Amino acid sequence: MNIILLGPPGAGKGTQAKFLEDTFKIIQLSTGDMLRAAVKSGSELGKQAKEIMEAGKLVPDDLVINLISERIDQPDAKNGYILDGFPRTVPQAEALDTMLSQKGQKLDHVIEMKVVDDVLVERICGRYSCAKCGAGYHDSFQKPKVAGVCDGCGGTEFKRRADDNAETVKTRLAQYHAQTAPILPYYQGKGILKSVDGMADIAVVTRQLEAVLRA
Ligand code: AP5
Ligand code: MG
Ligand code: ZN
Repeated sequence: MNIILLGPPGAGKGTQAKFLEDTFKIIQLSTGDMLRAAVKSGSELGKQAKEIMEAGKLVPDDLVINLISERIDQPDAKNGYILDGFPRTVPQAEALDTMLSQKGQKLDHVIEMKVVDDVLVERICGRYSCAKCGAGYHDSFQKPKVAGVCDGCGGTEFKRRADDNAETVKTRLAQYHAQTAPILPYYQGKGILKSVDGMADIAVVTRQLEAVLRA
């Protein structure tokens, strides 16, 4: 099963992808995570992406298209994948269609996570993750069971993203409305677009997604 989770920054794409990975035995492919790994490694791609990401703008289409095309050829993607943060522009959506038909694959579901802009800023500015295993947390909405200790690995070091500040979030939201929201009608036209209420509690959103994917 191959799916796309679509939604604005902070909608909960990464949070929900982690649950769906376990339940459906498919893997999360987040272009944001891949680009952050490239920035950290100091690769050529990372050098090209760093400033653009810190400004909250979108990196050039061809870079992310190549990244995804190579990634879905890896053996661990055989069982299916959750695209998180890709496609993000109409040309990316079109390139995805071309690449999937060349690889003999198809999309099963495109799911929009609907959340109003006001709550996104609060969600993003309170977000942090475990420095060791990457597990995601939030100052108010998703705290570790023991304060300061990661539930998953017991790690005690945490980090925040360079683009998670109120100013950059505004640019990221503007980019979403201008560049990414136009792909919703693209998938609606193909009859594979569904939506869930991303404003609900995390566990409630998970149940909604599972219902869509099991239908
Ligand atoms: P990317 O990493 O994709 O960031 P994003 O789209 O801005 O999305 P986020 O990761 O911020 O949000 P999310 O939906 O995953 O939310 P999360 O689950 O963490 O992209 C970063 C940058 O990379 C881009 O700006 C761009 O520069 C570049 N890039 C990436 N892909 C690209 C592409 N295809 N083309 C061009 N450029 C690209 O949740 C957020 C917080 O809210 C968490 O703390 C969580 O605990 C909490 N939360 C989640 N759900 C709920 C809930 N239901 N109720 C309460 N709190 C909740
Ligand atoms: Mg994310
Ligand atoms: Zn951890």
